[in-house]
Order: sequence, then C-alpha cells, then structure tokens
Amino acid sequence: MTKNLRELYWQLIPILLQSVRQHIGRRHLDFGCGKGLITSWLASRHPSTEIIAYDPNRTDIEFARNSWRVNNVKYTHEAPEVGEGFDSASLTFVLHEMGAEQALSEVLPKMLPEGRLILVDYDIKGVPKDQFARMFILDSEREELQKIGMESAYKMHTRAGLEDYAQSAQAAGFQETAKTKLFDKYFIWVGKKVA
Ligand SMILES: C[S@@+](CC[C@H](N)C(=O)[O-])C[C@H]1O[C@@H](n2cnc3c(N)ncnc32)[C@H](O)[C@@H]1O
Repeated sequence: MTKNLRELYWQLIPILLQSVRQHIGRRHLDFGCGKGLITSWLASRHPSTEIIAYDPNRTDIEFARNSWRVNNVKYTHEAPEVGEGFDSASLTFVLHEMGAEQALSEVLPKMLPEGRLILVDYDIKGVPKDQFARMFILDSEREELQKIGMESAYKMHTRAGLEDYAQSAQAAGFQETAKTKLFDKYFIWVGKKVA
C-alpha cells in the first residue's frame, strides 16, 4: 500500500468512529466485533459505558482479550443473552458478511425499547468488478481478498447497499434517525428500536 493510502486508512477510522460514538449508550453491544480494534477505540473514549463485544470467531476473541487494555469491555464468543438489555448496539462491517435479516433478528431482541442501532458497512451495491478491485485498497480489505477470493468478495460486498440495509432495519423494527455516507464507499445508518 502506498504512503498516501496508509494515511487515508488511519484518517478513515477516527472519522468513521467519531460518527458512531455519539450514539453509544450506557450498555452497548458490539455485535461481530472481530479482533476488537473498533471496540477498544470506542471503549477508551466511553469509560463509563459497559461494552459487551461478541464474535463467534474464538481466535479473534482471544486476540482481542490479549491485545487491548480497556477495563469496560467484555469480549465473548458466546452469543449474549437478552439479559437486562442493551441501549445501543453496533454492527461494523458485519452485515455484508452475515446478511441483514439474520443479523437484525439476532440483535433486535437484545435491545431495550428506543435502543439505538448503529450500522456501518460498504455502500457499493452493483459497482462493476474492475472498479471494485480498485476500491479494495486497505490492508484489511486486501487480506480478505486473499482469504476468500475475488469472486466471493465481489458478490458479498456488492449484493446490497445502504438503501437495502436501511429497508431491512426498518422492516425489523427500527426507525431511521441518522444516515451518513463516507467517501462514497461506506455508510453509517442509525435507527431507534420501535417494535
Ligand atoms: C469484516 S469483520 C468486521 C469485524 C469488526 N466489527 C470490525 O469492524 O473490525 C466481520 C465480522 O463479522 C463476524 N460474523 C460473521 N458471521 C457472524 C455471525 N453469525 N454472528 C456474529 N458475527 C458474525 C465475523 O466473525 C467477523 O469478525
């Protein structure tokens, strides 16, 4: 990756997360947290928020537990119980992998009424394949290409976009409260649980 692209990468995460953090509540669920980089960034800026960070990938959870020095996060590979409920939940780059319907049906019951759902993902539905290859520039994106191959990556990332995800979230029982696009490639969608 060139120096300029690396710089873009390191600018991108804080820009994205500044938009996410304003919606974080007192008890937050980071669903599909992966290696926990985003979780730990949010946790260090919201020390009084209790964060449950869930991912079914045990290796990633183990990595997250060993890598970040934040006291207010519990990393787990076991699906969180409904329990006392979350007043906010974020899914960062999970929808394109898991599919919106399944993800939302798992998260919705765990949230309190009026809880905030924060969705962050790609908005590149239908881009031509050659353009997609040029857009996949970050180290993490290139790693994914190597792991799953261009065909699968292309299908997975371009089958749905912001409007599809927004529709799924509204159909699942969330009312839209905010919607932002970043660099014409990513989106942040926020909704309030009404059902
Ligand atoms: C592209 S990674 C994003 C990780 C992290 N949220 C981030 O932004 O860095 C997608 C994550 O979705 C998780 N995932 C896939 N299927 C899932 C499922 N059924 N339930 C919960 N998480 C899932 C994967 O394990 C993976 O860590």
